[in-house]
Amino acid sequence: MRVIEEPDKETVSRRAAEFLAELVRRRPDCVLGLATGSTPLGLYQELIHQHREEQLDFSQVVTFNLDEYVGLPPTHSQSYRHFMQENLFSQININPENTHVPDGRALDFEAHCEQYERAIQEAGGIDLQILGVGGDGHIAFNEPGSSLGSRTRLKTLAPETVRDNARFFESEQEVPRLAITMGVGTILESRRCLLMACGLNKARAVQATVEGPVTAQVTASALQLHRDVIVIVDHDAASMLARREYYREVEEAERRLRAERSSQPS
Ligand code: GLP
Repeated sequence: MRVIEEPDKETVSRRAAEFLAELVRRRPDCVLGLATGSTPLGLYQELIHQHREEQLDFSQVVTFNLDEYVGLPPTHSQSYRHFMQENLFSQININPENTHVPDGRALDFEAHCEQYERAIQEAGGIDLQILGVGGDGHIAFNEPGSSLGSRTRLKTLAPETVRDNARFFESEQEVPRLAITMGVGTILESRRCLLMACGLNKARAVQATVEGPVTAQVTASALQLHRDVIVIVDHDAASMLARREYYREVEEAERRLRAERSSQPS
């Protein structure tokens, strides 16, 4: 895992946007895995900015979102489809047909989940998957105890997740108890994963993700099995990492190497 520490949420967002924009420029028809939650909001703002000011072109980009609440129509203010429309899709030149979010109102969930997996395959697989992390270390809605080989499926939210996400609803009662989520196995098949985390309330989850044992109790820890993972954290979220100094040294050494290489005549 490559761990990049940045001062704050703004710089974390900018750094994540650099990776994403570089991919979109290099491969205009790339497949992006997208996440919801408060963490990636700054990243989406930065992408919108680059689209408007620097002509970052999303016309051929294909996206797949990680998850969706069951029972909420796409128009509901707290549905993840609505979140994506508001915070990204409606503000860039992406083709709406290329954007995929699981349908929380599907009648046959099993068939819908299988179809979602197939659509990812048919698009050629996910090139870069953006991830946030829950306070208990979950990715997407893969709650503690989820199989590390799991695929897209229906999942019951853990009580902590319901409590955490109640801030977006009028009351805890209104938070859906079920979601459709990509599985840990689905996520691990992405060519590259980029996990973002900010704030002291994520410090324990980040430590367990990066340095803890690989365990289904912290589904983000399964990323240790992936060969290309970038973790971008702010100072607060990095505060419990035991090897923090080392991660900084690695980044500094790589930065020096890149600078040396780019100053050499080609
Ligand atoms: C939910 C989402 C996750 C997200 C997590 C953290 O559980 N399903 O994908 O990572 O919330 O959200 P936030 O970024 O708001 O802290």
